[in-house]
Amino acid sequence: MHAAIRPPAGTCGTGANRTDGRTQTALYTLIRPLLFSLDPERAHDLMLGALRRSYRIPGTAALIRSAYARRTPSLPVRTMGLQLRNPLGLAAGLDKNADCIGPLADFGFGFLELGTVTPRAQPGNPRKRLFRLPAHEAIINRMGFNSVGLAAFIANLTHARRPCPLGINIGKNRETPGQYAVDDYLLGLRAVYPFADYVTVNISSPNTPGLRALQERDTLAILLGALKTEQHILARVHARYVPLAVKIAPDLDDGEIGAIAHLLLEHDMDAVVATNTTVARPHIEETPLSRENGGLSGWPLRFMATHVIRELHRGVAGRIPIIGVGGISDADDAWEKILAGADLLQIYTALIYRGPGVVRDIVTGIRKRMATLGVETFAQARMAHAHHPAAD
Ligand SMILES: Cc1cc2nc3c(=O)[nH]c(=O)nc-3n(C[C@H](O)[C@H](O)[C@H](O)COP(=O)(O)O)c2cc1C
Repeated sequence: MHAAIRPPAGTCGTGANRTDGRTQTALYTLIRPLLFSLDPERAHDLMLGALRRSYRIPGTAALIRSAYARRTPSLPVRTMGLQLRNPLGLAAGLDKNADCIGPLADFGFGFLELGTVTPRAQPGNPRKRLFRLPAHEAIINRMGFNSVGLAAFIANLTHARRPCPLGINIGKNRETPGQYAVDDYLLGLRAVYPFADYVTVNISSPNTPGLRALQERDTLAILLGALKTEQHILARVHARYVPLAVKIAPDLDDGEIGAIAHLLLEHDMDAVVATNTTVARPHIEETPLSRENGGLSGWPLRFMATHVIRELHRGVAGRIPIIGVGGISDADDAWEKILAGADLLQIYTALIYRGPGVVRDIVTGIRKRMATLGVETFAQARMAHAHHPAAD
């Protein structure tokens, strides 16, 4: 396991004062101080609750859509057999229970990843378990898979509007011993399969003891083998092939990333999500909150996540789509992930710090860079960059 990858010189300073308001919408600029005056988890619940309730008022959905989704330019991509209106998705963990799909899609995302959902309902870790580090636009969380469980999750999904493709992220219950982890993932896969546009197998949350051990070569080979066999059975039963992705941690050394890349190819996986939060504390050592246990997300994670994407891209040689996530807060960060090998992108923490307008800003910025380079795909952007590194 390596410590933090240092940022390239001159690209980021210390990360202090990241909250410069560049991409905050006027509305979010007003709301944010209020939200940030509250306990972070309470603010999160309040915000999602308010969004859900406001959608019962006729006209609200149209208003949000015209403020965000309609202003997000179209940047169609096709990957994993899915057609997306743009390549930027919501990362897992924000809508854990699939109960805020409509409003989140109306922020302009190209796709949403829901969950993590565990087979049985569980409360997660005791509170307080979510911490903001505003000077670094970062979050530390040790939520520990608080989940309503598969039955309630699917009930929510059944009633939901489906405005964009939905990934569903599955995990294991805390009480399930490691040797039975495969059974939990199989339960999850069977239950969510008919409702998912893709399924992500989360083996990288740092807050469920033993979960990350599933990334080790022999254990991972067994897990992927079992899930792939089940996926093929389910594809026949439902007459629909649902792609299967694996989400990995940023706290892996190059040898471990290479071994995972090899296994992904061997098992014909459909995508890889890189990365989850880190247990390292890059660039925030001086912050007292850095001593809180849990996974760090946001700006300080950016370079570690980009490094994993670059190594994975080398390992899978473009044969498996990479969903790049970790510390993206503007179009420059997004472009860095694309050049490193990402085919799709996700954000979580930037949405908290910059508000929904960040979706439009990132997609607009990517589109501009592609137009400047005269390319239509991210693979072409990488080729153009390799030939003329200064051109973008
Ligand atoms: C509060 C919080 C809860 C999260 N919960 C999950 C989760 O349930 N499953 C998961 O795969 N990732 C989860 N994540 C990780 C995010 O999906 C993402 O991988 C990570 O935050 C890095 O992206 P970011 O820097 O844009 O936030 C969570 C992140 C945060 C901040």
